[in-house]
Amino acid sequence: MRALDDRCPHRGIPLSHGSVEGNNVVCLYHGWTFDPEGQLVGTKHDHFGKKLPNIRNRTYPVKERYGLVWFFPGDPALAERTPLVEIPHGDGPDAWASLSFAYTWQAHHSMVIDNLAT
Ligand code: FES
Repeated sequence: MRALDDRCPHRGIPLSHGSVEGNNVVCLYHGWTFDPEGQLVGTKHDHFGKKLPNIRNRTYPVKERYGLVWFFPGDPALAERTPLVEIPHGDGPDAWASLSFAYTWQAHHSMVIDNLAT
């Protein structure tokens, strides 16, 4: 499993506006289609007999833990040796039942609410 950069290498449209067809992601704008490795594997228009350009969108290694998908934005070669954060409340029968923490914020309350609510 991988995460694909949310930017089409053709014209920069967010690929998240596109669709998933099988294991591929299809750009909404011109239909460029990328496989799970980020390789361009098709378009929705005629190539007039020419080969597809060799274009690969950036991908990121991902892991699933605590019911979340974590992507690794650094050097992919380091992903397997880089541990995920430990979240004691993230596992077990009461996973995510509560998170207790205390902070002293030196900021306007609207900034605190905005940061905690999203
Ligand atoms: S912008 Fe994605 S195919 Fe053109």
